[in-house]
Amino acid sequence: MKHDDVKIVINNEEYVGKNVVVCGWIKTIRKSKRMCFIELNDGTSLKNLQLVVDNSNEQLFSFCLGLTIGSSLAVKGKVVKSLNSNQNVELNVNDIKLLGNCSLDYPIQKKNQSMDYLREMPHLRTRTNTFNAIFRVRSVLSKSIHDYFQKNNYTYVNTPIITGSDCEGAGEMFRVTTLNIDKISKDKYNPNIDSDDFFGKKVGLTVSGQLEAEALACSLGKVYTFGPTFRAENSNTKRHAAEFWQIEPEVAFADLDDIIDIATDLIKYVLKRMLVECSDEVKFFTKYYDKSLSERLINVVESDFAKLEYTDAIRILENANVDFEFPVYWGCDLKSEHERYITEVIYKKPVFITNFPKELKSFYMKANPDGRTVASTDLLVPGIGEIIGASQREDNFELLNKRIEELNMNKEDYLWYLDLRKYGSVPHSGFGIGFERLIMYATGIDNIRDTIPFPRTKCKKLKL
Ligand code: 4AD
Ligand code: MG
Repeated sequence: MKHDDVKIVINNEEYVGKNVVVCGWIKTIRKSKRMCFIELNDGTSLKNLQLVVDNSNEQLFSFCLGLTIGSSLAVKGKVVKSLNSNQNVELNVNDIKLLGNCSLDYPIQKKNQSMDYLREMPHLRTRTNTFNAIFRVRSVLSKSIHDYFQKNNYTYVNTPIITGSDCEGAGEMFRVTTLNIDKISKDKYNPNIDSDDFFGKKVGLTVSGQLEAEALACSLGKVYTFGPTFRAENSNTKRHAAEFWQIEPEVAFADLDDIIDIATDLIKYVLKRMLVECSDEVKFFTKYYDKSLSERLINVVESDFAKLEYTDAIRILENANVDFEFPVYWGCDLKSEHERYITEVIYKKPVFITNFPKELKSFYMKANPDGRTVASTDLLVPGIGEIIGASQREDNFELLNKRIEELNMNKEDYLWYLDLRKYGSVPHSGFGIGFERLIMYATGIDNIRDTIPFPRTKCKKLKL
């Protein structure tokens, strides 16, 4: 069906006076004796196009009086300047074709329905202004992330979804198998069961594309992944999802300071682009979800991020006049309450915490000369906590080999990874950004379930 996007019609002066066809769904209808005003939205813009029908065409007017919110239309009409200050133009309608009637029990026709309520119907909630705006921001951020890396000579690589390596070593992989689970549970325990499986070994859904990205960085120099990752974490919080998208750059000839600079540059670049390309959405989120959003985004783009050694962070927390639920001591993992105290109370901006104790972090991180910390960093932001995990990778064959042994990992699985340290090893570093957490930060939306169209989080029974 040949038609124009609402976004184009409402934003281009040259459409005034032209006859156009537009399609979309009815957001609201106002009816009076003489006039009928319909707000039409086609998903290309947060703004609607106002359709104006007067009673001079009796047949069309009475047809409009019978229309319901949520119905889909194809509309012919003339674009005219609007007298209403909220919009540039409106459409004087000549003809309307009802594409799909919307029945009166349409569950999302009221304004201000709660996010909890909308979460129950992910297939319909995208028709609200809020989700319309969130998913457009998601799309623009995604494009800007690719643009950033492409213009800086990175190669976009795709790493496997099904893998045998639990990169983070946390035992949070979803198992992928073709074994007959019903039958196995009735069988006696079979120690060779994994070798009977599809790939001849135990495999699962990837928690991170990092290890494979390292192999690619050790020839392509600068690479990045942008894809789904999975964690069977038993964390039912507002910032954990079982399926989330991760952006993982991996950079040869880069140390921890270099990777911190790259992460900072990327975050600033994409937020700056968002302020320009999604100005309507930023205004919308600032009005309805986070009054400080606009100002915060501008500050983030314009000011430096803080850097704080883990050891100093512990000192700050120990001296804080706060009754934390989890005890603070050198060697403890930072919990959400600690992260938030540092970013929200002390710094009030993004903070890189650097050089964590090695016991808290994964096997691949580069050992620092002090013998007890590794060259790692987490970027914490106010309102959310960690959005980036980063490190310099251990590039010394002997040290990495020793660490794999110390941690009792299955060496055979990591022989290929050790090869990278055997054949022309280079210092290299990388990081992973949780894409949904970045969207939370960029929009002020406070639940990860609302940043991805069909969220997967731990639940009793997934509906859609
Ligand atoms: O800190 P993480 O576990 O680091 C890695 O996976 C590294 N291999 C990344 C790398 O160096 N290439 O995860 C990275 C980021 C976190 O900072 C967080 O933003 C996000 O991924 N993340 C999650 N997001 C949503 N739900 C979860 N369950 C998440 N777990 C991690
Ligand atoms: Mg982490």
